[in-house]
Amino acid sequence: MTSTALVYDRIGAGYSRARRADPRIAAAIWTALADASSVLNVGAGAGSYEPRDRLVVAVEPSTVMLSQRPADAAPAVRATAEALPFADDAFDAAMGVLTVHHWRDRASGLAELRRVARGPVVLFTRDPRAVPFWWLHRYFPATARLEASRGTPIGQFADLLGGSLQVIPVPVPADCSDGFNAAYWRRPEAYLDPKVWGPMSALALIPAPERAAGLRALRADLADGGWVRRFGHLLALDELDLGYRLLVARP
Ligand SMILES: C[S@@+](CC[C@H](N)C(=O)[O-])C[C@H]1O[C@@H](n2cnc3c(N)ncnc32)[C@H](O)[C@@H]1O
Repeated sequence: MTSTALVYDRIGAGYSRARRADPRIAAAIWTALADASSVLNVGAGAGSYEPRDRLVVAVEPSTVMLSQRPADAAPAVRATAEALPFADDAFDAAMGVLTVHHWRDRASGLAELRRVARGPVVLFTRDPRAVPFWWLHRYFPATARLEASRGTPIGQFADLLGGSLQVIPVPVPADCSDGFNAAYWRRPEAYLDPKVWGPMSALALIPAPERAAGLRALRADLADGGWVRRFGHLLALDELDLGYRLLVARP
C-alpha cells in the first residue's frame, strides 16, 4: 500500500465522530448519482455519503478508516483509486467525496474511476483557488500553502475525466455536520478543539509549531473581540460558498 494510506492511518482516529455526513450535501450527491443502481465509492473512509438504497462497494486504503465503518456499511476493499481491482464498466456510477486531493496520482485515479463506471463519476471536492478560506488562512498560513499545493483546479477535472462535466457549487451550511476544513466558518471556536482539527487534514498536516501559533492567535482574537470585529459580518449568514463543488462527469 502506498504512503497515501498512511496519512489517514495517522490522523484518521476519531474521524467518524468528527466527520458525520451532512444531509444537505448527501442529498446533492445522491441526486447526482441519478438512477445508478450500483455505485463504487472511492476513498470511502468510514462510509459517509454512501447511499443505502443502492448496491455500493467501497474502496479505501487506510485500515484506521476501514475500522470505523459501521457493521452494516457497504462491503469495502482495501485498495487505492490508482489501481481499482474491478473490470471495465463494472458499476453504473463511481463517487468520491473529499478524497482526490489525497491521491498520489490524480490522473491515474480519475482514469480508473472513469474506466470502471458506465455512467456518471460524481466527485465532491474543493477548489481552494476558486474561494480561499480567507479568515482561517489569516491564522494558519501553512494551511493556505498546503491547500494550494494539493488542490486540483476544476478545469483540470474536465480534461482528466473527458466527456461532459457539470459543476455544481455547494455552499457550506452554517451548521454543517461534516467537520471538514471549512465546516466551521461561522463557529470559529470549534477550530480550537483538537477533536475537531485532529481529523481535519488541512490543520492536522501542517507543522505543529505553526498550528500552535495559529491556535494561540485565534484564541486571543476570540477572547478580545478581534475575530468579531474582522469577520462578524459572517454571523448573519446561513451558508457560504467556500469553493466546494459537486462535479458530475458524464461519459
Ligand atoms: C477526507 S477523507 C474522506 C473520506 C470519505 N469519503 C468521507 O467523505 O468521509 C479522505 C479519504 O481518502 C482516502 N485516500 C487517500 N489516498 C487515497 C488513494 N490513493 N485512493 C483512494 N483513497 C485514498 C483516505 O484514506 C481517506 O479515507
